[in-house]
Formats: sequence, structure tokens, C-alpha cells
Amino acid sequence: MIEQSIKNRILQLKKEKDVVILAHYYVDGAVQEIADYVGDSYYLAEQATKVAQENILFCGVIFMGESAKILNPQKKVYMADDSADCPMAHMADIGKIRTIRDEYNDVAVVCYVNSTAEIKAESDVCVTSSNAVQIVRALPNKYIYFIPDYNLAHYISNQVPEKKFIFNDGFCHVHKSIHSNDIKTAAKVHPEALVLAHPECTEDVLELADYIGSTSQIIEFVTKSKNNTFIICTEMGIFFELMQKNPTKKFYSVGHRQFCPNMKKVTLEKVLDKLKNLDRDIDINESLRARAMKPLKRMLEIAGE
Ligand code: 13P
Ligand code: SF4
Repeated sequence: MIEQSIKNRILQLKKEKDVVILAHYYVDGAVQEIADYVGDSYYLAEQATKVAQENILFCGVIFMGESAKILNPQKKVYMADDSADCPMAHMADIGKIRTIRDEYNDVAVVCYVNSTAEIKAESDVCVTSSNAVQIVRALPNKYIYFIPDYNLAHYISNQVPEKKFIFNDGFCHVHKSIHSNDIKTAAKVHPEALVLAHPECTEDVLELADYIGSTSQIIEFVTKSKNNTFIICTEMGIFFELMQKNPTKKFYSVGHRQFCPNMKKVTLEKVLDKLKNLDRDIDINESLRARAMKPLKRMLEIAGE
């Protein structure tokens, strides 16, 4: 009852204040329900360039809102929770990027979109988990310095063996906490289940997976699959859309650690507060923004081909 009245107020205020709400699949289902668009990182970055509203309210982590601002400097971009930050977004070192550029003359610095604006500004192209294979394959360079995520880099390097990868040691603590032994235990209990994993998972987990993809790709796979049971190796927020689209199918998690504490900071109450105040919009200085925009635009161009 209280939740419904908060939702009604949110829907009213976003119309009154010309706000569009974008949400990632990892935020709570109640928040996904009031969003105008819900998707994976690529979809949200692309969608942010298409919306007509003056104001974007992001229900996700800071790098997502930053990407929206970098691509749309004329719009005001707000975070539902200003402290919701992805630790992996900071796990690359600008000094190291410059050293690698000095050491290798045919290197592309490929930056997972889970990264700060400062790291993007040092990079040649951004990727998300849904387009990384396509983009790395399309690059003319022989060497790929892939930042920040080691696990995604390793997965892509297996898919694109013609490139020589230089690895960085960043990781997502949520996906790292999904262990292969727990998957084996779950698979014994549900032998009919397919194992679906996000490429931020470690190599031993990916080896057990029947399908590897971004959040949207996992949802699409399940929705098209004739199978009825799935073991899901990514953050629990995805269960909301999986169940919405596939009410008769069964989904199992692996242990109890599949929660991203930063994504879970986003609540309906905070969305409502932000809509009331519209304070602290994302501010990025113009020279940084212009440099960070180039790799993001290049991603949108190559992925859209
Ligand atoms: P995708 O939705 O692009 O698969 O991203 C996963 C993620 O970790 C976002 O933080
Ligand atoms: Fe970052 Fe992992 Fe949380 Fe995604 S799930 S925001 S990669 S910590």
C-alpha cells in the first residue's frame, strides 16, 4: 500500500518534471517497475542518447550515469543514489595505461564500460559484455590492453584468439564470489538445469556454463529456450525480469552471495527523494568529458554496424 503510493508519486513527478528513469537489471524489482527503460549496460548507454526528456534519472551505479552525461552534455543526469559506485570501475591505473602505450606501438586500449570517466578518457574504445567480442574483433590492432576486468578480458581473448591480450587485474567482487563448487552442487540437485553465467565470472565458473552472456542476453536466452530450469550465475536483480518474462520457468541461484551492495542502494524512497529535489546532477569538466566521449561513441558506432 505504502509502496504503491510511492510509485504513484514517482510516476506523477517524473511527468511533471520531464524526467526519464533508466534502470539496470541488478536494481530491485520494485525500482525496475517504475523505470521507463530497463536493460543491460549497452542498452542503457544507447537509450540515453535517444530519450527526449531534459532530465535523466539513473537507477544503477555511477559509471552508468556518467556515460549518459558524457554522451548527452546538454541533459541533466541524476543518480538515484549518489554513492552507488562500482568498485571495479576504479581498478585500472592511468600511469600503467600510458606505460603500455609506450611499450607497444600497435595496441588498442579497450575499456569495459564499468570504468570511471578518467579511465575512459585514456582509452581507444569502450565495450560492454554484450558487444566486446564484436568490437575487439573489428579493431585493426594486434595487441589489446583490456581494462579493468580480468575475467571478461580472459573470456574475450578465448573468443578472439587472433589478438594478443595484455591483461589487467580488475574484477567484480559479486561475480568472483560465485564458486564453481557451488554450481556443481546446484547442478546435482537440479540436473535438468542449464547453467547461465555472466562473463565477469571466473574462468572455472565459465567452463561449467551452457551459455555466457550479458544480463540482456541471458534473459533473451531463457525466454527463447525450450528448457524449463536454469542455474543463474550473476547478480540476483536479474531474477525479476527473468520471472516476469518466464513465469512458468524455474530459476536457481548459487549460494547466497549474488548481491551487489551498490546496486541495492537504489530504493523507491531514494528515487522519490531525488525526483522531489533534483539536486546534485552529474558534473564532468568539459575537457575530460570530450576525451571520454570518443571511446564511448566509437563503441556505439562499431556495435551499431
Ligand atoms: P551488463 O548488464 O551489461 O551485462 O552488465 C553487468 C554489470 O556488471 C553491470 O554492473
Ligand atoms: Fe560493479 Fe559487479 Fe556491482 Fe556490476 S555487479 S556494479 S560490476 S560490483
